[in-house]
Amino acid sequence: MSKLAARGRMINGMSVLVYEDSKALYSDAIRPLFGMLRNGNGHPTFGFATGGTFLPFYRAVVSEFGRNGDSFRKARAFNLDEYWRIDPKNPGSYAFYMHSNLYSHIDMGPGMAQLPRGNAEDPRAEARGYEGRIRKAGDVDLQYLGIGRNGHIGFNEPGTSFRSKTHLVKLSPRTREANSQYFSNGDMPRKALTMGINTILRSREIVLIATGEEKSAAVMKALQGPVSPRTPASALRLHSRATFMLDEEAASMLRR
Ligand code: PGA
Repeated sequence: MSKLAARGRMINGMSVLVYEDSKALYSDAIRPLFGMLRNGNGHPTFGFATGGTFLPFYRAVVSEFGRNGDSFRKARAFNLDEYWRIDPKNPGSYAFYMHSNLYSHIDMGPGMAQLPRGNAEDPRAEARGYEGRIRKAGDVDLQYLGIGRNGHIGFNEPGTSFRSKTHLVKLSPRTREANSQYFSNGDMPRKALTMGINTILRSREIVLIATGEEKSAAVMKALQGPVSPRTPASALRLHSRATFMLDEEAASMLRR
């Protein structure tokens, strides 16, 4: 990753990059992904995230893909999470988000990009099956994460065990409030399927992106508070290759 546009420091063993310019942040953030497409093991497995933070990320991926023609045909991807009881055609679903922002623009092979199925009959069986498919793929090589205002990663809300695997969760009122903008009245799902914290920690490399002042308290607790299920993102301090990429606002509460 180019450090030119960023101030880098280590905080409690985590590599933290702070960017003045969000364009530079996103152009650095896509670098390890294209690095793996070009010279990785040839069959990289990506872990993808959704949310507002990742819209500029996928725009950057699509534009780089158009520019240099690197192929995703040998790649595989698993998304972090999906709402439960949602049709993939619902514009609020993460399946719809991934299709419109990424998969309809790149050449990923059929069946190579997966999300938990939000319309599966039995959510617990779907969670077990999804975890099994991730394991069978050899776990994720490069996992991208956002962070919730309450410190969640994926939909692992405060209190989730660090040993958790893919599971069904009840969304917290704060998360429902933050995400209700994507749903018309009353349609916001109450539950979701999410990779667990253990699933995430098994990834070989992790990049967390946070922008905006509203993420600053969660970022500070994750990096400088106790490592505790009360702040799910603090679990990343147990990982040896995790990087936080932040804009100035998201980094504004970090202590020197
Ligand atoms: P956001 O979501 O990018 O929409 O803020 C991040 C998250 O909740 O993980």
